[in-house]
Amino acid sequence: MRQIYLDHNATTPVDDAVLEAMLPNFRETFGNPSSVHALGRAARVCLDLAREQVAALIGAHPAEITFTSGGTESDNLAITGTARALKNKGNRIITSRVEHPAVLNTCEELRKEGFVIDYVPVDGYGRIDCAALADMITDETLLISLQHGNSEVGTLQPIEQIGALARDRGVLFHTDAVQTVGKIEVDTQSLPVDLLSLSAHKMYGPKGVGALYIRRGTLPLVPLLSGGGQEKKRRGGTENVPGIVGLGKAAEIARSRLESDRSHVLLLRNDLRRQIESRIPGAKFYGHPDFYLPNTLYLGFEGVDGQTLMIHLDLAGIFVSTGTACSSGSILPSEVLGAMRVPEQEMTRTIRVSLGRGNHPEEVERVVGALEKAVLEIRSKTGFSAEPTPK
Ligand SMILES: Cc1ncc(COP(=O)(O)O)c(C=O)c1O
Repeated sequence: MRQIYLDHNATTPVDDAVLEAMLPNFRETFGNPSSVHALGRAARVCLDLAREQVAALIGAHPAEITFTSGGTESDNLAITGTARALKNKGNRIITSRVEHPAVLNTCEELRKEGFVIDYVPVDGYGRIDCAALADMITDETLLISLQHGNSEVGTLQPIEQIGALARDRGVLFHTDAVQTVGKIEVDTQSLPVDLLSLSAHKMYGPKGVGALYIRRGTLPLVPLLSGGGQEKKRRGGTENVPGIVGLGKAAEIARSRLESDRSHVLLLRNDLRRQIESRIPGAKFYGHPDFYLPNTLYLGFEGVDGQTLMIHLDLAGIFVSTGTACSSGSILPSEVLGAMRVPEQEMTRTIRVSLGRGNHPEEVERVVGALEKAVLEIRSKTGFSAEPTPK
């Protein structure tokens, strides 16, 4: 049975060319980039190239890229680093309840240190209310941290407006762009963002490596890791050279195929949605109808438990997720759906389908067939019967 992987928002397979690029850094160019001999200098050249590749993907200058251990660390460094650097200016941070736990829990830790966290409300699609945000900013606000794309429901935030508002009010703006970099255009030259997080494993690179974009001129963040002064003293510790090289190569590939990847997954997503709507009654889709990640469908079926549906699909060799990948294993209701005020009985129905480069148009038919079969089976066990979807 050929497996169909539909969980690309959780992680992606490493591209062959990425792996090829990384291998010499384990064997030949294994030097420490801080060493001054030839092997160290060769590793430094690899880091410099990767920095240029990542910068090019997001329209940044290489000096604006700090390598980290992934999206989580980038979020931590952006938020905690800014809060500690600006603690004499103010003590308030604005974020939202639809953020990734890497942002939510970092803010929660800062709350214990005395910072005040203000949560801007979202609408029923999970999109930020900009008018409420404008009212929330005070002289004490030192940072706004709001995501670019939501990993669960796929809703995109109006980060142009948020950033413009932040600039106008003289507040720094961080965006977690882990789910958007490599999927849609993210250009720091046109976007008014000061800090931006990205992660390699969401764009066919290795796990455990990412970057934080820090706009030139932004105040020096207080580092989370003190050490040997690497990354311009922003992040101590010998650099993960193979991982960083993989991130760089993944960024280069993502840049060259951004539009073809985007239109490929969008076509599959829309086809999948159309076929589900026409063949399976009682389907409901979540997330914004106009502003969404091109690869993501978040949905549920009346009378069908999402975990049970996921297991049925798993047995058919089709891999989707329920809730965020980081919290799967626990079946706590999604914070994101709660913030969107999705009724409680619907929360446990949802699954996330996130497509990628490697999915094929022929797979859509098999996925819809498997969904139809699973939904029917689950409903027949509970005696539920759905009204046909009106044409
Ligand atoms: C929006 C978002 N931010 C941050 C992260 C964490 O990134 P990493 O797994 O690289 O630590 C993820 C991963 O799921 C994510 O989706």
